[in-house]
Amino acid sequence: MPSPLTILVATMTGTAEMVAQEVQQVLEAAGHEVELRMMDGLDAGIFSTGGRFLVCTSTYGFGNVPDNAQELIDSLESTRPDLSAVVYGVIALGDRTYGDTFCHGGARFDALLSSLGARRSGEVLQHDASSGDLPEEVAPAWALAWARAIDEHGAGPAGQRDAEGPQQHTQSDRARSE
Ligand SMILES: Cc1cc2nc3c(=O)[nH]c(=O)nc-3n(C[C@H](O)[C@H](O)[C@H](O)COP(=O)(O)O)c2cc1C
Repeated sequence: MPSPLTILVATMTGTAEMVAQEVQQVLEAAGHEVELRMMDGLDAGIFSTGGRFLVCTSTYGFGNVPDNAQELIDSLESTRPDLSAVVYGVIALGDRTYGDTFCHGGARFDALLSSLGARRSGEVLQHDASSGDLPEEVAPAWALAWARAIDEHGAGPAGQRDAEGPQQHTQSDRARSE
């Protein structure tokens, strides 16, 4: 039985929540025990027992995290807990039309968790809302592979982030695979 995992959701208009629900469904069907938590009201204590976390977040404003993630970000930044017992993945929703701040919400979580010693497994999944691909269709397959990789190989050393950068889903990716 794979170990349990928690999906943490940051959203403004509900897309990330819908994506997280689809991800939860496929992971549970694959035998994982999954808890889905909206970030509202959460603080750094959510990570205190360690374990596996999947952050599913959009980006708003000038590269900001959604409002419901701000308290968690503030708490992590002010208390700076040791997260070396945490393994995480990131599903970042964004839109390339926002240019330089594309998927910055996910990048912010990635940088912060990594700086606190958490270990990221796999690349960050970046979804471009203007690509034509639906995030609720792309993310479940990515999440299954993410969870399987942790089961099979664990994660890299503490604080490690993937040198190859994010995995992006764009219209051209889709065209290549057709
Ligand atoms: C007002 C507004 C600002 C946004 N700013 C950004 C941004 O800076 N960078 C980005 O990549 N996407 C940006 N987006 C796109 C959203 O992140 C994207 O549509 C996402 O899928 C929304 O997910 P949600 O419904 O879970 O909040 C913005 C969208 C809106 C409406």
